[in-house]
Amino acid sequence: MKNARVGLLLALSLMITAPAFAAPDQDQIEKGHKVYDKWCFPCHGTGLGKPGTDSLAARGQKPAVLEERTDLTVPAIKTFVRHGVLFMPMFRKTEVSDADLDAIAAYLTRNNKP
Ligand code: HEC
Repeated sequence: MKNARVGLLLALSLMITAPAFAAPDQDQIEKGHKVYDKWCFPCHGTGLGKPGTDSLAARGQKPAVLEERTDLTVPAIKTFVRHGVLFMPMFRKTEVSDADLDAIAAYLTRNNKP
């Protein structure tokens, strides 16, 4: 009886945690890349005069380019995008929809270790 209960709890906890570890699908990542290029690359891209990248580099963030990071989490990305930080503006849902933001988050976390 006790084992059955432990098994049930284990199954339940796997059901709850599994989606968090599931790899985002490739379509979602590609969509995120496109939306990112439109709204985020002008400040966070590579090359000269990218204020977001420059600001992060000045604070010692390595790598300073968001697309090269492996430590960003989905909730953190969503919070920064919806609220802004320093001179990064907040993005409204009429600009970056929730679906677009999901895709951006999938793109920016694509290389994270599970
Ligand atoms: C107008 C320029 C600008 C745009 C556009 C912009 N950002 Fe930012 N972003 C910044 C600045 C500036 C910071 C703060 C850098 C710092 O803390 O030094 C920042 C910080 C961030 C951070 C936090 C990084 C960290 O480690 O603290 C994330 C995540 C982020 N931006 C994601 C995005 C995403 C996703 C988009 C597109 C939807 C975007 N940003 C668009 C300028 C911008």
